[in-house]
Amino acid sequence: MAVDPARRLAYDVLHEVGASGGYSHIVLGTKLRDADLDQRQAGFATDVVNGTLRNQLFIDAVIAECSSRQLGKIDPRVLDVLRMGVYQLLFTGTDSYAAVNESVDLAVSVSGPGPKGFTNAVLRAASKRDLNQWRTQIVPDWNSDLKLSPDELSALTSHPVWIVNALRDSLGRSRQDELRSLLEANNEAPDVTLVARPSRADVDELKAEGATPGKYSPYAYVAPAGKVARIEQVRTGDVGVQDEGSQLVTLALANAPVDGDDKSWLDLCAGPGGKAALLASLAAERGALVEGVELHEHRAKLVKRAAKGPGFAGVVVGDALEVELDNNFDRVLVDAPCTGLGVLRRRPDLRWRRSPSDLSDLTKLQADLLGNAIDRTRSGGVVAYVTCSPHIAETDLIVSQMLKQRDDVTQEDARSLFPGVPDLGPGPAVRLWPHLHGTDGMYFALLRKQ
Ligand SMILES: C[S@@+](CC[C@H](N)C(=O)[O-])C[C@H]1O[C@@H](n2cnc3c(N)ncnc32)[C@H](O)[C@@H]1O
Repeated sequence: MAVDPARRLAYDVLHEVGASGGYSHIVLGTKLRDADLDQRQAGFATDVVNGTLRNQLFIDAVIAECSSRQLGKIDPRVLDVLRMGVYQLLFTGTDSYAAVNESVDLAVSVSGPGPKGFTNAVLRAASKRDLNQWRTQIVPDWNSDLKLSPDELSALTSHPVWIVNALRDSLGRSRQDELRSLLEANNEAPDVTLVARPSRADVDELKAEGATPGKYSPYAYVAPAGKVARIEQVRTGDVGVQDEGSQLVTLALANAPVDGDDKSWLDLCAGPGGKAALLASLAAERGALVEGVELHEHRAKLVKRAAKGPGFAGVVVGDALEVELDNNFDRVLVDAPCTGLGVLRRRPDLRWRRSPSDLSDLTKLQADLLGNAIDRTRSGGVVAYVTCSPHIAETDLIVSQMLKQRDDVTQEDARSLFPGVPDLGPGPAVRLWPHLHGTDGMYFALLRKQ
C-alpha cells in the first residue's frame, strides 16, 4: 500500500506541531526542503497543513458528530489523519472517494491496521454533507441575518472565543459589524508579497519573473504562485518576502517629518530583519544609517543577511533594555514582540498556541521597550510603536499609559503617513486589517520626543 507522499508530509508536519509544539511554518518549510515533491504536491501539502490548522475547531466539531468515540479518546495520530481528511472533504475540491481512501491508507501506515474501519466510518459520515450543510448542523443561524454570538463565531470560523472577543474589542465601536469578515479573512491563505528593496532591487527583472505590483506600498509586488524560491533576487536578498502592511508601517516611520538632522535611525527589535532591511535601503538613498538591536543571536544573523548595503550600520545582539547605545537617534522603530493576533492568516497554528495569559509578560515588555525607545530619541525625533497585533492591551493602552507617565513625548496623527490607503479609522494611531486592506493586521502609533 503506497501512501501519497504529499499527504504523508502534511501528516508529519501536523503530528510534529501537535506532539512536540513545533511551529507549523518552520516544520513545514524544513520538511518541504528535504522532500522530493513536485510543485503541485508541495502546494497540496501546504494547503492541507495550513487549512487543517486554520479550521481545526470546526473540523473537530464535524468529527465529534461523526465519531462513536469522544475526540479525547481517539489516538492523536488517527485524529490528525481524520482532521486532514475532513479538511480535504469539506474545504478543497478533492474527490471524496480519494479523500477517504487515501486517509484510511495513511491512518494504517501511521498507526497500524487497528483504526482502518473507524477512520473509514468517520470520514464516510463526514462526506455525507457538504460544507454549508455542516455549517448549518454546527451553527444553525450561520446563514441568517441574526447576529452571531462569540461562541457561534468561534465555532464557525475556528477561533478561540477569547480571540473573537479580543478582535471585536480592537475593531472598535464603528467597526463592530466587520468582526465576521475579519475572522473569515484570517482563514484565507494570503498572497506571498515581496518587497523590492529600494536602491537594491531590479524591478524590471522582478516583473519579468511574473511579479505584479501590490496595492499601496510602492515597493510591494505579489509573487507568482509557488515561484518565490526560484526568484534570484530573493536568494540574494535584494528582494525580500514581506507583507505589505509591514512595508507600510516602515515607510510611515521613514516618511514622518523630522526637523534638523536625519542621519541616524534605530530599529530596537530588529530580528529577523524585514523592516530593518527596508529602512536600511531607504536610509542609503538619504545618506542615513540604521542600527539594529536584537535579543537573539540567530535572529540577529538574519538581520545581517537581510539588511546589507551603505544604509546599514550593523546589529547589536542583546537586550534592548540593557545594551549601550546613543540617546540621540532621529527615528526609532519599536516593532515589539506581541501575541501576533494580526498575522493569524499567515501563522495558522498561532491561534492555538496563544492564551490570554501571554498578555501580562508581553505588555510589560512592550511598555519597557517603548519607554526605552523614547529615551534613545533626540528631542524633535520620532518613535514608531508597531505591533502585528491589534489587541487593545498591546496597542492603544501601551501608548496611552506611556503618554500619561511621561511629559517629554506627544502622539501625532499618523494617518497622513499612509497616503492612498483607505479606511484608516479615527486616528491618531493607524490600524491595518486583513479584511479591509488585504494586509496583515498591523498597529502603528507615532510619538514625537519633545
Ligand atoms: C515582532 S519581532 C520584530 C520583527 C522585525 N522588526 C522585522 O520586521 O523583521 C520582535 C523581535 O524583538 C526581539 N526581542 C524581544 N525582546 C527583545 C529585547 N528585550 N531586546 C531586543 N530585542 C528583543 C525578538 O527576538 C524578535 O525578534
